[in-house]
Amino acid sequence: MNEILNTIASRSSIRSYTGEKLTAEELDAVLRAGLQAPTAINRQELHFTVLSGDAPILFEIQDAMGARLRPQANFWYDAPTVIVISGERDFRWTQVDAGIAVENMALAAESLGLGNVILGCLKAAMLGENRDRFASELHFPDGYDFMIAIAIGHKAAPKEPHAFDRQRDVTIL
Ligand SMILES: Cc1cc2nc3c(=O)[nH]c(=O)nc-3n(C[C@H](O)[C@H](O)[C@H](O)COP(=O)(O)O)c2cc1C
Repeated sequence: MNEILNTIASRSSIRSYTGEKLTAEELDAVLRAGLQAPTAINRQELHFTVLSGDAPILFEIQDAMGARLRPQANFWYDAPTVIVISGERDFRWTQVDAGIAVENMALAAESLGLGNVILGCLKAAMLGENRDRFASELHFPDGYDFMIAIAIGHKAAPKEPHAFDRQRDVTIL
């Protein structure tokens, strides 16, 4: 397998991090992977807000989440970096584009030996009664909504990639 296929095969959602921060180069590489992701008609309708794991806004979002959605200590698992992706609310492909961008970033992080987990659990809180305040505090451009987030840091422990069922999930005609 080549390097990209190896990275795809080894990626796994990491939910336990050491305190070590990302270097500026690591963060830059992950952001570039998001910015270089394809978008429908090359719209580039996504915005990336980078937060430190101790940013007060994360705790505000956590407070706005229902208890059912946050069984663990916090929704970003004390990762040192959280990147929130917002996107143009009224463009039909924004959700797909955000998904592609976040996976590009997940794979970039994995390729650098960094753990990561994609975070959707804050969506209801982000789009709820505090939507405008959170959007403003996170510097979303006008007309942009929360799409997805990703937590990134150094893995506290390795984790095996998930199993899959090729028989069930693939049809080759
Ligand atoms: C759109 C999306 C949203 C997700 N949201 C969360 C989340 O809020 N919290 C979490 O711990 N994991 C979240 N995950 C990670 C999934 O739970 C994980 O990808 C899945 O269990 C498969 O495990 P793996 O990533 O280790 O292969 C999310 C994944 C995706 C694709």
